[in-house]
Amino acid sequence: MIVCVCRRVSDREIARHARAGMSFDEIQFELGVATQCGRCEDCARDVVAQCNASQPVAALYKEGAPATTAAGACCGQQGRACSCS
Ligand code: FES
Repeated sequence: MIVCVCRRVSDREIARHARAGMSFDEIQFELGVATQCGRCEDCARDVVAQCNASQPVAALYKEGAPATTAAGACCGQQGRACSCS
């Protein structure tokens, strides 16, 4: 799902960066999310918070490799659709 329409940033992209240990500010700088109209900021912060809260240890991210996260480990939505990866 696209979170930031202005910069075309998806929740999956935000979650991937959050799981790599980046803060919201770092993700904002890297992806440009919430840097134009700002309407997406709350949603983007929620995605980051969900990933950080359930996975305090930073995930390793290898460029070009699919993210490997146990079901529900990223956002705690075990048994439900998870849009983090
Ligand atoms: S929707 Fe993200 S800055 Fe406008």
